[in-house]
Amino acid sequence: MKKIIIAIDGYSSCGKSTMAKALARKIGYLYFDSGAMYRAVALYCMQQGFIVDGNIDVERLRAAMSEIKITFTADGVTGNSLTVLNGVVVENEIRSLEVSQQVSRVAALDFVRAALIDQQREMGKAKGIVMDGRDIGTTVFPEAELKIFVTASAEVRARRRYDELVARGTTPDYNDILANVVERDHLDLTREVSPLRQAEDAILLDNGEMTIEGQLEWLCEEYKKCVEE
Ligand code: CDP
Repeated sequence: MKKIIIAIDGYSSCGKSTMAKALARKIGYLYFDSGAMYRAVALYCMQQGFIVDGNIDVERLRAAMSEIKITFTADGVTGNSLTVLNGVVVENEIRSLEVSQQVSRVAALDFVRAALIDQQREMGKAKGIVMDGRDIGTTVFPEAELKIFVTASAEVRARRRYDELVARGTTPDYNDILANVVERDHLDLTREVSPLRQAEDAILLDNGEMTIEGQLEWLCEEYKKCVEE
């Protein structure tokens, strides 16, 4: 069967990674979380003291960019993909609300995007991948054979993120999360370099009312249609 690239883009906290991971597992593709890479760069900035009073020291980050190595490894028990920043697994740290509050400013910097997009294209060279993010179908792989654009209301998305953070053992405030979801949407939609937008040939999926199983079934159908064409 022909191998394709599947690009899943959309608003923050839509459950893109849950669906992308499940699809990849089901069809034997590799899964890549491009947002995790932006999150890792934001975490690096926080660890290095590059962010003071919410302002990024852009020149220090630019100079350090070649020192930032982001890779993925598989969890020995669950097989889930874990993000590795300069040799250290940072999967939990990059999901914190503090990182969520910085990441979209870091992701708006052109030199950060250029560096990460190069790495993302490398990951897709052999095809057979599912990648989720904001600009995968528009900028990273405009030639992707299957493109999905996911959306749901901000409240539904904030509730999902809240549940995820609680499951990770933290005690977040729902209103802080909702404010963050709304702010990141705004920053992602209005930035100059590859803003969030639906590719013309992407299929729109509003998953606000869908179960995880229903969503996976829908995705598998779209995948089948695409490879059987
Ligand atoms: O999981 P969630 O959808 O909330 O976010 P994410 O996929 O982990 O991405 C975190 C942030 O990175 C987003 O809010 C974007 O600002 C940025 N991002 C991006 O600019 N381009 C991508 N391809 C992926 C993420």
